[in-house]
Amino acid sequence: MSVLSGKNILLGVTAGIAAYKSAFLVRLLIKQGASVKVVMTPSSKEFVTPLTLSTLSKNEVFSSFTNEEDENAQWNNHVELALWADLFIIAPATVNTLSKMANGVCDNLLMATYMSAKCPVYYAPAMDLDMYKHPSTKETFDKLTSFGNIQIAATSGELASGLIGQGRMAEPEDIVSFVEKDLLKGLPLRNKNVLITAGPTFEAIDPVRFIGNHSSGKMGYALAEAAAGLGAMVTLISGPVSVSTDHSFIKVISVTSAEEMYHATHEHYGAADIAILSAAVADYRPAEVSSEKIKKKDDELHIKLEKTKDILATLGEKKKDQYLVGFALETENELENAKTKLKKKNLDLIVLNSLRDKGAGFKGDTNKVTLINKDNKISPFTVKPKTEVARDILEFIIDEIHV
Ligand code: CTP
Repeated sequence: MSVLSGKNILLGVTAGIAAYKSAFLVRLLIKQGASVKVVMTPSSKEFVTPLTLSTLSKNEVFSSFTNEEDENAQWNNHVELALWADLFIIAPATVNTLSKMANGVCDNLLMATYMSAKCPVYYAPAMDLDMYKHPSTKETFDKLTSFGNIQIAATSGELASGLIGQGRMAEPEDIVSFVEKDLLKGLPLRNKNVLITAGPTFEAIDPVRFIGNHSSGKMGYALAEAAAGLGAMVTLISGPVSVSTDHSFIKVISVTSAEEMYHATHEHYGAADIAILSAAVADYRPAEVSSEKIKKKDDELHIKLEKTKDILATLGEKKKDQYLVGFALETENELENAKTKLKKKNLDLIVLNSLRDKGAGFKGDTNKVTLINKDNKISPFTVKPKTEVARDILEFIIDEIHV
């Protein structure tokens, strides 16, 4: 599981002998689920070929402002490249490039990209020991730290010159784990377990038919992705849906019926810090399930329904330290009904959707929610894509649990 999963990483390669290790670094980053693009300084191509890096990264490698070999020369947009990146890692970073970074010397594509970058910038210095110790290098490091750039310190060992001392670029594995740890450090939900239910449930009538609903699962999956992006370990109990996730912090447990969702949710509730029940669970199911396909006979067919277990209410009953969140889909007296549910089910927060609001509900890509907490604080939000609604809900929770 890696916090790098799904991240866009720009790798800057400069002209040091350690550039051959950049190829390993690309592989490791990709293995962790990141997308990688490489920007090289022109002279670094003497140490490692763009072909190697483009093959491993499965992306074009950038090293100049124009593609000189192409007669319809195209401008490589350094601003676009910088904005694409969630992270910029410069490894190896030579003393020459570091000094340019510290002084704003913008004479190649890598430098222009660095100067346009708004994302965190990590750099792994690689140089000979005397260069590493030089007062000007120390000044460069201090300046870069003051810019917010993060150093992945060089290690000691035998250097390309044959001398022994500090200056060796950190090993690719260590660069990856350094960046992972650093990113996690800043995430508010690190070390938190989040339990989420999503999608509809299907209640069998016979082997081929069921009672279900139109829930797409998009809201629950967006919540899971947002929580994982904030560092949480997510258990996502999902009814039958066509959406999916491959985020490595999300463990998906697929269920079909309300009864299965009940058991799976209770099994994981003890370990949860936050539980968000966004599933559209069937309130009723056929009292008897026919073991054979029901044949068409009479003009009328009556199916007797019985109540399913209210998963949210049963979690409310056994709540200890969990922060418990429920959803309410209402058509009238929305605020009053939601407040009653919040109390009755012993929740900390209820997310109200009104079917009277345009753009709200469980089928589309947008939602409009109002959050109501235990102290009756009412926070309405505008219509937004579900990914942004998920962020709003989690930010509200983070604020409430003071992490
Ligand atoms: N829920 C649940 N188990 C059920 C039914 C609902 O966990 N068997 C959860 C949903 O995931 C949602 C919340 O309860 O978080 C609200 O569901 P809703 O159907 O709106 O409310 P009900 O309590 O079922 O009340 P009503 O149908 O009368 O509106």
